[in-house]
Amino acid sequence: MHTLLQTLSDIVGPSHLLTAPELRARYETDCTGRYHGHAHCVVRPATTAQTSAVLAACHAHRCPVVPQGGNSGLVGGAVPHDAVVLSTERLNRLSPIDTAAAEVVAEAGVRLEILQNACQAAGLVFGVDMASRGSATIGGMVSTNAGGLHVLRYGSMRAQIIGVEAVQADGTIFGKIPGLRKDNTGYNFPSLLTGAEGTLAVVTRAHLLLHPALPHTCTALLALADIESAVILTAHLRLHLPSLHALEIFFAEGMHIVAEHFQQSLPFPEEHSTYLLVECADTTNPLAQLAAALTRPEVQDAAVAEDSVGRERLWRWRERHTEAIRSIGIPHKLDIALPLRSFPAFTREVHRQIIDIAPHAQTILFGHIGDGNLHVNILGLSPDDMTIDEAVFRLVSSYGGSISAEHGIGKTKRPYLLLHRSSEEVSLMRQMKEVFDPHGILNPEVLL
Ligand code: MLT
Ligand code: ZN
Repeated sequence: MHTLLQTLSDIVGPSHLLTAPELRARYETDCTGRYHGHAHCVVRPATTAQTSAVLAACHAHRCPVVPQGGNSGLVGGAVPHDAVVLSTERLNRLSPIDTAAAEVVAEAGVRLEILQNACQAAGLVFGVDMASRGSATIGGMVSTNAGGLHVLRYGSMRAQIIGVEAVQADGTIFGKIPGLRKDNTGYNFPSLLTGAEGTLAVVTRAHLLLHPALPHTCTALLALADIESAVILTAHLRLHLPSLHALEIFFAEGMHIVAEHFQQSLPFPEEHSTYLLVECADTTNPLAQLAAALTRPEVQDAAVAEDSVGRERLWRWRERHTEAIRSIGIPHKLDIALPLRSFPAFTREVHRQIIDIAPHAQTILFGHIGDGNLHVNILGLSPDDMTIDEAVFRLVSSYGGSISAEHGIGKTKRPYLLLHRSSEEVSLMRQMKEVFDPHGILNPEVLL
């Protein structure tokens, strides 16, 4: 280890090799507080060439490497266990925005918020947005195929990436930047590395698509009687709102937790069970279109905002769920996808099963109903106890759903991958891993 540390220090410079426990600490624990690990060191390369040299050195020493971006992952995928943490935070350059092509090249450590600000200045937007925009990095978002708030309009990370540069476990640099919007010349590496959770290669740069900014946005918070109404309304809004930009769900439990933690008074005079947050964006004002689509019996109450302050106030109810839940304890965060029609039966059954197994547990559901994606958050469990996680995954599987919609498999879900992928598929994934990383040094505890 001493020789490896000396080599890494020579590559990046001593101030970018962190070995002291107090400097390593923030890289060794995830943002949920559920996962803790140990890093031999944290190494922070500033260029692709340095990243390549770091990987070649670790490869020669057969030392595991865990790539880490903003450390905002939710499945323990960037937490080291006796590994070198390769932090991408110094790979933080952004090319000038190509406004004619609506494209940009971002290094892996560029934070989402920085990309968003640059796009805004150019009259463009990046298609993926999420509450962790201040910490999430492009490399991490590629590696987890991040989804977020606008998947129903722009798709997830995989739909935004046209070129990738990455480094294999042995230090070989590969990929093509700039990429092209259309390029049918064999296997598609941007797509393959998206969602690979750092197990095949370390992404160093991504060539990304951008979209024209839509100047008119309006947002509505809707109060509904039950989840059945939310499903009916979701189907209706998808058909009747061509400007639909976000469609999110949460429930009374989550609303109360947010109200309490942030000392906000509830937005409606009466209690409701289910809330939808609907956002429309367009080149002309979509308010009339939204109002017409909302004249439905399912809507018991509604608050609408067009100005940014009012819209942000409505969004807070949804975006503050993560922080409010975390303030109560360490949650088990299960991120699942289901056919929309199964939402009512699933939500009833999941509450029932959790209470049967752990009567004192608190379950908070929220998520992206427009994408069939629910976040099942459970408080009051010991961090290592997987009994409920497994019961929920099995339930999801019985409805034909996925055990990961947008957070990835990480460490948490690795034992359950076969609930959603066939043994033939997992075997092919293992063979691909072997080709890219024959000594298994890249994020070895994750995914497979
Ligand atoms: C969200 O939708 O807010 C994110 O996926 C984060 C979370 O699930 O807590
Ligand atoms: Zn989410």
